[in-house]
Amino acid sequence: MGGPSILGALVTPTILAGDKVKLCPKRIQDALNDYTWRTDAELCKLDAAPPTLSSLEEYSRAYAEELHRPSPVCRFAIETIDGRHIGNCSYFNVDETSKEAEFGIMIGDRAYWNQGYGTDAILTLLNRVFSQTKLERIYLKTLSWNVRAQRCFEKCGFATCGELVRGEYKFIIMEIRRPVEPPKQPK
Ligand SMILES: CC(C)(COP(=O)(O)OP(=O)(O)OC[C@H]1O[C@@H](n2cnc3c(N)ncnc32)[C@H](O)[C@@H]1OP(=O)(O)O)[C@@H](O)C(=O)NCCC(=O)NCCS
Repeated sequence: MGGPSILGALVTPTILAGDKVKLCPKRIQDALNDYTWRTDAELCKLDAAPPTLSSLEEYSRAYAEELHRPSPVCRFAIETIDGRHIGNCSYFNVDETSKEAEFGIMIGDRAYWNQGYGTDAILTLLNRVFSQTKLERIYLKTLSWNVRAQRCFEKCGFATCGELVRGEYKFIIMEIRRPVEPPKQPK
């Protein structure tokens, strides 16, 4: 996995350890779960994205190619501590001038919703971003009706800073800025 040039700084693919999850660099063995989630109507609706129309074979081929190309997106598989792949998170749209980036997350395995896995994944990534990069602000977009996601983001320290209407979709924009206190050392 490559990373954004200067500010991205997660240059070395590494596993980030949280309390309930590990964030792992993406691997080809994640493709089947990712395909399952990208074809799941409810998950796609929560993500404001149309389901993929690709076959599993096409999707896996493109997936493998993408893994071997440098990418401006820092992607992680979210795994439980015992190694079950339950979702993904990433940061992208890194702006080196304004020192900000966009964040995205999806716990694809519904059995793990509402148990703090999303919160732990986000805090683990934020901790690393604010301690290992020069990024000053992380923002995200979430559908206005996705109250579970908003509650999770609030718990992590995000605050609403705007709204965005894109076609039929109404989004809330939330942000978090680099904490004044030095971040805790990553584990
Ligand atoms: C959104 C998501 C990342 C959150 O992760 P998670 O592990 O489920 O979230 P957490 O358990 O850490 O926190 C969820 C919080 O929302 C609360 N919540 C859940 N449903 C709720 C509802 N309908 N109304 C209000 N609060 C709700 C939970 O009780 C919990 O708060 P609490 O700890 O104070 O009780 C995850 O559920 C997910 O990926 N869902 C599917 C895709 C999606 O929505 N992605 C986000 C796109 S922006």
